[in-house]
Parts: sequence; C-alpha cells; structure tokens
Amino acid sequence: MADAPDFYLYQHKGFYLISGIHSAEELDKLKDCEIRDTDIFTITYPKSGTIWMQQILSLIDAKGDLSVTDKQMTSEQVPWLELTESTKNFASMPSPRVRVSHLPYYLAPLGLRQKKGKVIYVARNPKDVLVSYYHFHKVAVMLETPKDFNEFFDKFMEGRVCGSCWFDHIAGWYTHKDEMNFLYLTYEEMIQDLKAAVLKICSFLGKQLDEQQIDSVVKHCTFKQMKTNPNANYESVSQSLLNHKEGAFMRKGTVGDWKNHLTVAQNEMFDQVFQERMRDLPLKFVWDIS
Ligand code: A3P
Repeated sequence: MADAPDFYLYQHKGFYLISGIHSAEELDKLKDCEIRDTDIFTITYPKSGTIWMQQILSLIDAKGDLSVTDKQMTSEQVPWLELTESTKNFASMPSPRVRVSHLPYYLAPLGLRQKKGKVIYVARNPKDVLVSYYHFHKVAVMLETPKDFNEFFDKFMEGRVCGSCWFDHIAGWYTHKDEMNFLYLTYEEMIQDLKAAVLKICSFLGKQLDEQQIDSVVKHCTFKQMKTNPNANYESVSQSLLNHKEGAFMRKGTVGDWKNHLTVAQNEMFDQVFQERMRDLPLKFVWDIS
C-alpha cells in the first residue's frame, strides 16, 4: 500500500490549503473557468454544516428518495470543488455541477460575480464552529492534532487553520452577495426549522417537490438519521485519512456547545473580536453569541 501523503497547511494568496489534497495551481485556473447558469455552489467555513447541505441537496435532487442517494458517500454525491481532481475536471463536467467549497470569495470563479450559477452560503455561530473544528482536528489525519483546546483557540482566532479566518470568510462572501445569485442560511435556522430551510432552498433552486417528498428530505436530513447513516459519517474513508476511533464525523449536532468549552476569558475575548470584525457587516446574526 502506498504511504499516506504528507499533509501540511500552506498559504496560497492568504488562504490556507492542505498539501496533498489541494492544488494552488489548479485553483488559480478555476477562477477563470466559465460558470453555467445551472451550477450550484454551497459555500461554508469548515464545520458549519457542509455535510448537512450535501445531504439536503442530493435528497432534493432525488425527490426525497434515500434509495437513490444511499449508494455513495454523501460527500461524493455533492463533491468538493477544491479537491485537486475535482478542481481539475470541473470545466469538463456535465451540468448540473453541484459542488461544496470552503474557498474564500476572492479565490472563487469570477463568473459567479456576473450572476451566473447559484451560491448558498451557510454560516454557523463561530464559537460552535471553533469547538466542532477542535474535535475534528483530532479525527482528521490531514490536520495537526491540537495539544489542547487553548492552543486550538489561539490558532482559530488567528486564522491559522484550513479555511483561514472565519471573520474574513463570512465578510468576503456576504459583502459581495448582491453581485451573485445568493442565498444566505444559518446552521441555527436549520436546527430551528429544517423544513422551512428545505423549502427555502427548493424555492431558491427552482425545485418543485410535493409535500410528501419534502417531508422525506427533512426526515433523512435530521441529525438523528444522519448520525446513523454510514454515508454521512464518512465511515468508508480509510483510517489513514480519518481516525474514526477519535470520534464520529456527525459528532453532536447542537447549538451552543461552545458553552462547555470556552473559558469566561476566551468568551470575552471572542465577543470583543466579533464585535470589532463584524461591526461593518450589514448582517443580523440569529444566534446567541453572548
Ligand atoms: P458538531 O461537531 O458540532 O457536531 P461540516 O460538514 O461543515 O464539517 O460540519 C460538521 C458539523 O455539522 C458537525 O458539528 C456535525 O455534527 C454537524 N451536522 C451535520 N449534519 C447535521 C444535522 N443534520 N443536524 C445538525 N448538525 C449537523
């Protein structure tokens, strides 16, 4: 068996990528790739519910029929844009090209800015993102295991993680949303009312599903269902990439787990940075960040 590739973080144009799975050269070519009206991109900062959207989009496409989607891993049904092979082949892939991505606004295909294709941006309370990402670093072999939570807290706040700085990511996309066909959703609103979120997504994508089909999409996209779904949990991914013994991909699926992790001082510091960095963003956050 070939050795696992050597993974390390490196910066490309100010954005952290992972060696061995991302190619800066291919990503640069992607920027000028022609975007089609039928293209759909779900954009997230890591740990904001990407797999959730992959499951929702594939089930909407299958009109709620799980037997159509359960032949493949959830992440293969709606592939990653920035994994090297996917990036390389993107231009020649047939329509509709439905992809997920953590790329920042400034590295994404320029065609999006001419209202070509559609963008669904999913945001999550960054404190819960931080906690989820901390646990994921222990599972993901391609990410350096943190010494402890405090070390990871500092790394996250400085943006020294794959996906770079949370504050830059959301500001970049949200500030430019009017240039694009753009739907903004939050993890928290999906937790609060998944059916309403699925209906919103269908309406944005022009998908017509009947009541029963919608209910079936919702049923198979709850945390409870997805937690027991090996496809959503990346269970067939080898130990050389995901250390399954350290935890499941579908970990907790809750709002507010940060309260179990951040110290009072870390929380105060986070709030201060949040207020400074988000001050100019014309965005109302629905989560309770205090
Ligand atoms: P936790 O670690 O807090 O549990 P991503 O796919 O972007 O990496 O996000 C993973 C996070 O989304 C994990 O958060 C995971 O449990 C959560 N998640 C995935 N599907 C979910 C669902 N159906 N409902 C609630 N949370 C979900």
